Amino acid sequence: MRNLTEANLTEAVLAKLEGASDARFKQIMTGLIKHVHAFVREVELTEQEWLTAIRFLTATGQKCDDKRQEYILLSDTLGVSMLVDAINHRQPAGATESTVLGPFHVDGAPDLPSGADIAQGVPGEPTYYSGRVRSPDGKPIAGATLDIWSTDGEGFYDVQRKDTQGLRARAKIKTDADGRYSFWTIKPVSYPVPTDGPVGKMLLKMGRHPYRPAHTHMIVSAPGYDRVATHVFVEGDSYLESDAVFGVKNSLVAEFKRHDPGVAPDGKRIERAFYTVSFDFGLKPAAR
Ligand code: BEZ
Ligand code: FE
Repeated sequence: MRNLTEANLTEAVLAKLEGASDARFKQIMTGLIKHVHAFVREVELTEQEWLTAIRFLTATGQKCDDKRQEYILLSDTLGVSMLVDAINHRQPAGATESTVLGPFHVDGAPDLPSGADIAQGVPGEPTYYSGRVRSPDGKPIAGATLDIWSTDGEGFYDVQRKDTQGLRARAKIKTDADGRYSFWTIKPVSYPVPTDGPVGKMLLKMGRHPYRPAHTHMIVSAPGYDRVATHVFVEGDSYLESDAVFGVKNSLVAEFKRHDPGVAPDGKRIERAFYTVSFDFGLKPAAR
């Protein structure tokens, strides 16, 4: 293993995997080495460019802490997260499509009764969500959990606010015996992914904007079914065609109907304009 050249270096590195006993690890490392070497050859990477890449990856790691995950943001903005999602969640007809989880999910959102206002006073336009959770054959799923989170009406998640007043615009809601759920929150707005780190600089250099179209996140789960991490997007949003993290699917876009002040579908009197949105979820039975 001396005098390695452009022509035989890749083979020499691959041969070093002979002793790896974990077959899947060996397969992944083989693919990684082959593709990285092919990439370096294809673009004829200069030493300066390689150093720039190392500095970028170092800065990406240094930006991470217990609240910020710049590597996930890198994966999201390069479409890797959605590719992994697509490969791992091939949904049958009748099951809700999944999309990117994002970095703002928090374990331990409060359990609130169906019909509750989960906004907890965040600024924004009141919106009533309702619908059903069913299996692909149409059977209602009672006791399914919707773990919900969204920005406020100014485009910030509770965890991004410095003056945080605890968990807001997020909750867990369960379906009733007919698989029905409802809750109030605010109408989400489009917002930029964090741009104050190396990924923001990368987007700028690529000539890309950092915006996500308005959406509410949900993880829908029930015993005996595969859980789905998904969004409900706001129809008409101007970023639906150019989501910074490639997460939009037609089946997840819903109409948010505007209403003048008056009586809402749950009988509540609302003194300002409000919205209603109806969205049904389908869960795939878990493989046995
Ligand atoms: C989000 O929708 O919360 C999100 C997803 C990917 C990157 C940043 C934010
Ligand atoms: Fe989001």
